[in-house]
Amino acid sequence: MMTATAADKNFRAMSLTQDAAFVDLKNYVEANEKDVQLLDWFQKDQSRFEKFTRHFKTPDGDFLFDFSKNRITDESFQLLMKLAKSRGVEESRDAMFSAEKINFTENRAVLHVALRNRANRPILVDGKDVMPDVNRVLAHMKEFCNEIISGQWTGYTGKKITDVVNIGIGGSDLGPLMVTESLKNYQIGPNVHFVSNVDGTHVAEVTKKLNAETTLFIIASKTFTTQETITNAETAKEWFLSKAGDPAAVAKHFVALSTNVLKAVEFGIDEKNMFEFWDWVGGRYSLWSAIGLSIAVHIGFENYEKLLDGAFAVDEHFVNTPLEQNIPVILAMIGVLYNNVYGAETHALLPYDQYMHRFAAYFQQGDMESNGKFVTRHGTRVDYSTGPIVWGEPGTNGQHAFYQLIHQGTRLIPADFIAPVRTLNPIRNGLHHQILLANFLAQSEALMKGKTAAVAEEELKASGMSAESIAKILPHKVFEGNKPTTSIVLPIVTPFTLGSLIAFYEHKIFVQGIIWDICSFDQWGVELGKQLAKVIQPELASADKVTTHDASTNGLIAFIKNNNA
Ligand code: F6P
Repeated sequence: MMTATAADKNFRAMSLTQDAAFVDLKNYVEANEKDVQLLDWFQKDQSRFEKFTRHFKTPDGDFLFDFSKNRITDESFQLLMKLAKSRGVEESRDAMFSAEKINFTENRAVLHVALRNRANRPILVDGKDVMPDVNRVLAHMKEFCNEIISGQWTGYTGKKITDVVNIGIGGSDLGPLMVTESLKNYQIGPNVHFVSNVDGTHVAEVTKKLNAETTLFIIASKTFTTQETITNAETAKEWFLSKAGDPAAVAKHFVALSTNVLKAVEFGIDEKNMFEFWDWVGGRYSLWSAIGLSIAVHIGFENYEKLLDGAFAVDEHFVNTPLEQNIPVILAMIGVLYNNVYGAETHALLPYDQYMHRFAAYFQQGDMESNGKFVTRHGTRVDYSTGPIVWGEPGTNGQHAFYQLIHQGTRLIPADFIAPVRTLNPIRNGLHHQILLANFLAQSEALMKGKTAAVAEEELKASGMSAESIAKILPHKVFEGNKPTTSIVLPIVTPFTLGSLIAFYEHKIFVQGIIWDICSFDQWGVELGKQLAKVIQPELASADKVTTHDASTNGLIAFIKNNNA
């Protein structure tokens, strides 16, 4: 039965578009700011940079968040903060941290913050403190990591584990994948590999390179029922047994991370090799739970703890900082401005750090699975846009691919540039990093400044081009500019700073969900396709003609079957 929680009280009865705070913001921006050039604001206000930057201290150095290249002024910024207040951001945040069942469609608390609650303050779910369980699993992870890394844990022929394969999908894949890639430089344990896609190519290509004697499989699935993961896990077990022969060897080579102990044991995992987590950990927020085991094994448990510490520092900031100084709140509200006032449809994440090459993919799930919803918490259809399309690639690669459209396309694409001051690979005396940073700075400057026809014409004249050619080419050389960006400069990529960065974005997504009055914590939208696939799979296997679908689906099935000789 669904019980009413205090969080229910926080639900805004009013649609965003009827909220006076939103109406004020929209009217103000439309009347005063929409057509202003960002550069003009810089010219008028010498303190704009100082005013719209925020610092965040970490033991590894300071973060700088530069919001000043966004379409905000003192007035619109204050109106955005008023909107955050009016939508109940603070009450909802407090409801999450105090374990209210804000994921009301699944009757669950939303407590990834408990997993990194480094102060160990009690957090009660249904009257029970979750912290002893969190700490017990962390201790188990620590013991396991130390055994694997030291070589005390051996495979069935007595050899040290050299390779770990995480088998999972969605949150049970992307978090560990993104973090192990981002923190590759900190590796002290085995190599990690990831198998997620049910396409047999994935598991086939990964196992091809591996030696069963020295490989450990981590089966990562919150539910332990996900078709892709269970299929891949069974295939991995078959592969392993084809090499090892003895089923007793499985215990040394397979561990499970799940909330579903029964199913994992049924699969053949030894219960003592089971790392538990709980229904209040959302899949896309699970890297802080046992799902982070492949991270901890790869970079060592101490480093994994630093990742948790970094996220905890941001949790403390999020809870204790006034809205105007609150970094996740500012990130979120600027996003709301573009989404709901300027009509932007997408948001680009552009890390200038090759280690972070899966960062955008990770937050594609984090953001789009959380806020891709058309129904409010009251069950009515929204009359405004919710979650943006999130995408991106690392710089400078993206510059040579899709930046053309950001600079000269017809859409407004707000973008976050993320760059570390210091590189982990200062080769050639830091030359590479200097070029990388110069490009980050140049791109955000170019996006804002653009290039007028007059400047472009001067350049063309100076290059010696004829007046006739200039007339033809000039319109193509113009950059309208005024493209908004946020620059997030971190000191260096470390476990702590990465943990912080992830938590900033997690809370940003949370705040936006509150503004849009949607349930950011479920993901019913992924279910329909799963259901239909279960119907279609046996139809593909049977020899019978399939006529039960629409003409297109029937036709596609027929084509595949007829050509699968
Ligand atoms: O299909 C979506 C989803 O439920 C994600 O939310 C989740 O991260 C992923 O599938 C994997 O689920 P599980 O960890 O239960 O295998």
